[in-house]
Amino acid sequence: AKVVEHTFHVGNITTRKMCQERTIIAVNGSLPGPTILVNEGDTLIVHVLNKSPYDVTIHWHGIFQLFSGWADGPEFATQCPIKPGHKYTYKFKVTKQEGTLWWHAHTSYMRATVYGALIIRPRIGRKYPFPKPYREVPIMIGEWWNANVMDVERIGMSTGGVPNISDAYSINGRLGDLYPCSKKHTYKLKVTPGKTYLLRIINAALNSQHFFKIANHKFTIVAIDASYAEPYRTSVVVIAPGQTVDVLMETNQPMADYYMAARPYNSAAVAGPFSDDTTTTGIVHYIGGPTKNSTAKMPILPALNDTATAHKFYTNLTGLTTSRFFVPVPRHPDEKMFITFGLGISVCGTPNGCINSPFGPMISFAASMNNHSFELPTSTSMLEAFANGVKGVYTEDFPDHPPLKFDYTKANLSSSLWMTEKNTRVKKVKFNSIVEIVLQNTALLTPENHPMHLHGFNFHVLAQGFGNYNNNKDRKKFNFFNPQERNTIAVPTGGWVVIRFRANNPGVWMMHCHLDVHMPLGLAMAFVVENGPTLSTRLPPPPADLPRC
Ligand code: C2O
Repeated sequence: AKVVEHTFHVGNITTRKMCQERTIIAVNGSLPGPTILVNEGDTLIVHVLNKSPYDVTIHWHGIFQLFSGWADGPEFATQCPIKPGHKYTYKFKVTKQEGTLWWHAHTSYMRATVYGALIIRPRIGRKYPFPKPYREVPIMIGEWWNANVMDVERIGMSTGGVPNISDAYSINGRLGDLYPCSKKHTYKLKVTPGKTYLLRIINAALNSQHFFKIANHKFTIVAIDASYAEPYRTSVVVIAPGQTVDVLMETNQPMADYYMAARPYNSAAVAGPFSDDTTTTGIVHYIGGPTKNSTAKMPILPALNDTATAHKFYTNLTGLTTSRFFVPVPRHPDEKMFITFGLGISVCGTPNGCINSPFGPMISFAASMNNHSFELPTSTSMLEAFANGVKGVYTEDFPDHPPLKFDYTKANLSSSLWMTEKNTRVKKVKFNSIVEIVLQNTALLTPENHPMHLHGFNFHVLAQGFGNYNNNKDRKKFNFFNPQERNTIAVPTGGWVVIRFRANNPGVWMMHCHLDVHMPLGLAMAFVVENGPTLSTRLPPPPADLPRC
């Protein structure tokens, strides 16, 4: 195992998009930022220098951070932000996982432009559990705003909690042929005919799940969220923000150009006010074939609200039991939680005073888990509070159940369920406890699907379905044999998912909706995992350069 070292300069760059020069925050001058490549077992060191005018932190999405919780990155959860002009060095070992992950800013909307791929190959001498691909290609789906994204969030939050929707989507930072003034810069993948390519697909979009296809080509899914999957053949990939999907693709088609394309999947099916329903494209060019883009074939993508296709894809994925990192489902949960979540309403306060709210000056959108809207502390990070035993930063009373049982699939319920309370409640669990969670989507205000992401752990997805979770009936559907393992799960609209994980890593671990529009509304909570009994199962002391609040 080796040490891989990078330096990230976070700062302003100008880029031409949608017919105008725009200033954005980016890492090392590029969008996406640098791809990090490691072998499993390596130590990764990244020096982050903040030359931007905003606070920043970087999160290594999906990395276990075993006994390195100080490097996880969410602002005010595991560290105070890196202030403009300051720096912080993230240092951690990448172990017990292989495949595709990514990194992104974990401060406000900044991850719209501050993100990149993090690829973990097997150790030298070890093989993939599938034939060695000819080439490996990261495909990052992104989301683009013409306005400054930091303003988009700030203004949206101060006026009732609905930031403006995006203006475009992108593939590897490029918008593609269908957007104004973008054709010249369309992403092009040049392929050699008769080979197998490994596409490492990452959804880095802020607020939209996506369908992804390449005309004429089929995929074999081999991994999701850096966890190997039983090979699964499909012509469409469905991917929620935060998720990754590794696919093998054979270049076995006639010598020509083929479009790759991504467009959103939005179960609520209200394009317009709530989501941008446009399509981003790239081109797969067969080397030696004709070079006229105009003849390239376009794939037919599912409709915006094609829940059947999305559900089929999401539920057909299973784990690869023969993989070297396959973890059998832990039996006998120590903690059983039932967590409802969705959109609601709250009374405006500071810092989200909502003067121009569409609901009037006192009311704004909110989102909650078990009827609590999560608020990050600002005086110190939760992890520092945990390590130093500081009281008053969070409370350990996040409830195991919602306050009431009701029909979670219906709107217009008692306003006591919409009016959420803002606070910083965590769920404390013992080291190594097995946690089972029923994640139940609610439709109090409007039905939506929420990609739920857990920091620090992969979880097994035991079952998923629509409607209200029914313990007697649905427990029989649990897959204990080869469930998919993920770090982000798209909980279906008006539906539920049951997950299970072993809390084998002390520290503070966020669980939140990976739609950035729902995070500041409070669709988040955190687990505090206590230290283990031995020195080697304790959280080490913080690094000396940990940023101060
Ligand atoms: Cu990919 Cu908490 O984030």
